[in-house]
Amino acid sequence: MCGIVGYIGQRDAYPILIKGLKRLEYRGYDSAGVAIINRGRELNVYKTKGKVSDLEHFVEDKDVSGTIGIAHTRWATHGEPCTENAHPHYSQTKRLALIHNGIIENYASLKNKLQAKGYTFQSSTDTEVLVQLIEFIQTSHELNLLTAVQLALQEVIGAYAIAVLDKENPNQIIAARKSSPLVVGIGEGEFFLASDATPIVEYTDKVVYLDDGEIAVIRRDEKLKVVNLDNVECPHDVKTVTMNLGQLEKGGYPHFMLKEIFEQPDCIRDCMRGRINVEADNVVLSAVIDYKKQLLSAKRFIIVACGTSWHAALIGKHLIESLCRIPVEVEYASEFRYHNPVIDADDVVIAISQSGETADTLAAVELAKSRGAFIYGICNAIGSSIPRATHTGSYIHVGPEIGVASTKAFTGQVTVLAMLALSMAKEKNSIDNHTFVNIVKELQQIPEKMEEVLKENEHIAQLAKIFTYAKNCIYLGRGYSYPVALEGALKLKEISYIHAEGYPAAEMKHGPIALVDEEMPVVVIAPHDDLYEKVLSNVQEVKARKGRVIAFVSKGDQMISQIADTCIELPDTMDCLTPLIATVPLQMLAYHIAVCKGKNVDQPRNLAKSVTVE
Ligand code: F6R
Repeated sequence: MCGIVGYIGQRDAYPILIKGLKRLEYRGYDSAGVAIINRGRELNVYKTKGKVSDLEHFVEDKDVSGTIGIAHTRWATHGEPCTENAHPHYSQTKRLALIHNGIIENYASLKNKLQAKGYTFQSSTDTEVLVQLIEFIQTSHELNLLTAVQLALQEVIGAYAIAVLDKENPNQIIAARKSSPLVVGIGEGEFFLASDATPIVEYTDKVVYLDDGEIAVIRRDEKLKVVNLDNVECPHDVKTVTMNLGQLEKGGYPHFMLKEIFEQPDCIRDCMRGRINVEADNVVLSAVIDYKKQLLSAKRFIIVACGTSWHAALIGKHLIESLCRIPVEVEYASEFRYHNPVIDADDVVIAISQSGETADTLAAVELAKSRGAFIYGICNAIGSSIPRATHTGSYIHVGPEIGVASTKAFTGQVTVLAMLALSMAKEKNSIDNHTFVNIVKELQQIPEKMEEVLKENEHIAQLAKIFTYAKNCIYLGRGYSYPVALEGALKLKEISYIHAEGYPAAEMKHGPIALVDEEMPVVVIAPHDDLYEKVLSNVQEVKARKGRVIAFVSKGDQMISQIADTCIELPDTMDCLTPLIATVPLQMLAYHIAVCKGKNVDQPRNLAKSVTVE
């Protein structure tokens, strides 16, 4: 939610800031802005409603010179998306400019206090309150910017990653973090600042991830200094990040989402690399080796996640329960943290998050940790907050996911969950060797089978044309295919804005079947698994009410294919690995329907990729 970028060095700041904003646009895209101090010590702020490309047009005839600047792309929390509410925000005298990712919860009381002292506000944001507060503290006590920021943040309740410029000191950026991510890049005589490393990696691979409560004092020609709110210096590790820049481009695809769907076979290979020992048919997750005792003695697993990651969690529950015979509960992180959950020291909490920054998941991790549980993270973004807050974990290694609708992260998460269940089951002796070897062998076949599914792209694109009329859609599945139905429905609604519901197929008759008529597309995920016959009956129930059935079945299907209106055949696999195959065509279906409807697939309305507010 909101992307922030900063630069100080010898180069022109503007092109670096704009490129950085484009890399971070997945975090929000309802308005954008830059603040740059030029050589004449003027602090220019330019901002506009719309995307980063709108900002570029807006500044075409403006002075964007200067070697120090900050920039922001917004996902609105307080105040509608409009130019006034866009960041950066000036302070009252326009001496300071500030960008912010997060929420200042006590902004109303701070604003009242400032208004009583004569401060006026141009926007309805919480952020403008913070910059005014900093200036008020700075000027009323004649303090330097760092001290003013430290004192202001002591009055603030909420979450923030901020960067502040002071035109009286054009050689310094002050940046601070609490619960929203912030990374400083260290170059030769220059520094970069961003919400994640993607805007930084093409200039330097040396980064420092700020921790909560830390403030980066970034001064031209000086070493990076990190202090806390009490001005105590904090030691900081400089990490090396490696990222393939090609992963940040569309690489010839019309959208990141399509590119990421097609990347899945390679992503799954990367995810399994070094973890599956082909010769020994073994699965080795270093976290399971290092924390065997904590994992294997767990009385219960609780998986916390949101959105697509929560769907992966449901599959993880099936996998761990059936292979390891350990009870697993799956919770929405946002609900878990507020219902005073029972958590014991012998519980293992697994947190799943692509971004590693989802505020609710992070808060659930902190809560579980405070109750003594052992925490295992399954994340994609290296160095993000959740992996740093957990005791151990496994990265999914699928590379940066930029399309707002999650695709390759989901299949990466399911792959890690399968490897986790397999390796724990082996250690626990809860699986016989024959079954273990069969699943491991089949897991290794998944990338090739995904490639076969991707060949259906054109077929699915044609099919999508028929369904653009739909206003509602139902997705049905059972067993391992139920979370797949949920995920297919989520993909459709988030990018095509067609209302879609995922349902366990047998639950239809308890209510939703009332919705079925000849207008209603019903997508059925019906691989040839243990529940096939049952799903066949459910399909018949839908057909009896004239619903239009689009079935995703196993190759060679004889029965559902006879009664469905449209059938797509998928390569056969083991029941427990079905989600890795069956989710891919549903991603493609949602993608093509959204394209046919002319929607902005990579940046759907009202959404942002990294949900760093509650
Ligand atoms: C859906 C989607 C979201 C995320 C959710 C959690 O396509 O992307 O539902 O899955 O916001 O995000 P992470 O996994 O980053 O915690």
